Amino acid sequence: MVAVPLNSFQLPPGPRGYPVLGVLPSLRSDPIRTFLDAADRYGDIVHMKAGPYHGFLVCDPADIRHVLLDNARNYHKSPLYDRLRDTLGNGLLTSEDSFWLRQRRLAQPAFHRQRLTAMADAMVDCAQQTVERWEAVASRGETIDVVDEMMALTQAIIVRTMFSMDLGAAAEVVNRTWPIINRRIGETFWATKLETTLPLPANRRFWRALQELDGVVYRIIAERRRSGRESADLLSMFLSARDEETGSGMTDRQLRDEVMTMLLAGHETTSLALSWTYYLLSQHPEAEERIRSEVDRVIGSGRPSFVHLDRLTYTRQVIEESLRLYPPAWGFSRRALGGDEIGGYHVAKGSLVFVIPFVIHRRRTLFPDPERFDPGRFAPDQEAARPRFAYIPFGGGPRGCIGNQFAMIEAQLIVAAIAQRYRLTVLRDEKVRPEPLITLRPKPGFRARVEKQTAGAAL
Ligand code: HEM
Repeated sequence: MVAVPLNSFQLPPGPRGYPVLGVLPSLRSDPIRTFLDAADRYGDIVHMKAGPYHGFLVCDPADIRHVLLDNARNYHKSPLYDRLRDTLGNGLLTSEDSFWLRQRRLAQPAFHRQRLTAMADAMVDCAQQTVERWEAVASRGETIDVVDEMMALTQAIIVRTMFSMDLGAAAEVVNRTWPIINRRIGETFWATKLETTLPLPANRRFWRALQELDGVVYRIIAERRRSGRESADLLSMFLSARDEETGSGMTDRQLRDEVMTMLLAGHETTSLALSWTYYLLSQHPEAEERIRSEVDRVIGSGRPSFVHLDRLTYTRQVIEESLRLYPPAWGFSRRALGGDEIGGYHVAKGSLVFVIPFVIHRRRTLFPDPERFDPGRFAPDQEAARPRFAYIPFGGGPRGCIGNQFAMIEAQLIVAAIAQRYRLTVLRDEKVRPEPLITLRPKPGFRARVEKQTAGAAL
């Protein structure tokens, strides 16, 4: 980082944009290009006026650490999360301060190592069900929609591990309504409140979808209450929580917000991580081959489990490289509660700070030849040589992802379970590009042929 004398009157360099609107039009039409260009052109800290806000794009790992960890108390989630709040309410991802801290402490035990070991088993059950179902697909020479399949699989896993149930027919409701909701949130990130409250057809579709999804979430809660079943899962932890002063439990609305948050945050991102991994593997057959031989060596034809994870090192590195190139949570932002100093510049109270993993993971100084797919970047010596906060697919600091380890375990086990039986050959009829909604989706999606592994192919 270049030391710049603190100057409260001088803003960091950045694109000027339009009068009043600043760079808002380009952020609305192509946020990733806007952020990438800004970082390429102006460096590690960039000023961008976005409508009424002063925004700071921060790309230096030390500055990111400052915002996410060292001075995290000075930051709340930015108003861009308001759109997410319309759907998730005031759950773990969107709440703040002491309320957030209480909920985080309540949820944390559900992610302890001991629990993760047990959950790995459920993950493998679900993966094997998918793999079994593909048997018919493979023998008929048919194809699968990779994103849909990964979405359905990770959704089954989150419901099973966090709420100890199967959604049954309601899974269809989640699969149908969530894409509508996700798209609307992504489209309205930069919209005014008015644009999101007018009874426009797109808003009506969003409200209807949300109402249906709400129905599923309230049913999950009601079913557990009715059964009175005690379980060591997240839902039980929330249901049995009591306020220290009043002794009262969480309200149905609060439970709804937490269940909705976990349901959505817990499956969408991981399914995209897996989808991008298969997209990259289709372009790098040598990496796919290495995964197969690693899985063959470590697990053979046995059942994948928690104990294999440490030795599935290359599989893990491929997933990490996929999260670098296509981070599902491609960007997030904060609002400064008070004035601060970042990278030698004064950041006024109320400013927005943008932390964009998609951009940071492509900084040449941190990842040489950044567009090249190279899982070797995650070999221990290379990782150790990089500053902390250079690689942040799961964010960092107190608001970092609670499901980080869960997701990595899940992705490794799924890739292993698939590699034991099949090779996914991606069909390339259309050019796939990343679409930045709340998460980074492959547009227009892609299909793959499911081909059975031939015996000995992995040797
Ligand atoms: C590859 C998969 C995943 C990615 C890339 C990812 C990414 C992230 C990121 C970047 C954040 C921080 C957002 C911010 O700072 O504004 C976050 C927070 C969060 N994630 Fe994940 N996540 C993944 C999987 C999961 C899973 C599996 C779960 C649950 C089982 C989960 C639950 C959450 C929750 C509840 C938060 C909010 C935490 C808090 O503020 O206390 N995520 N995730």
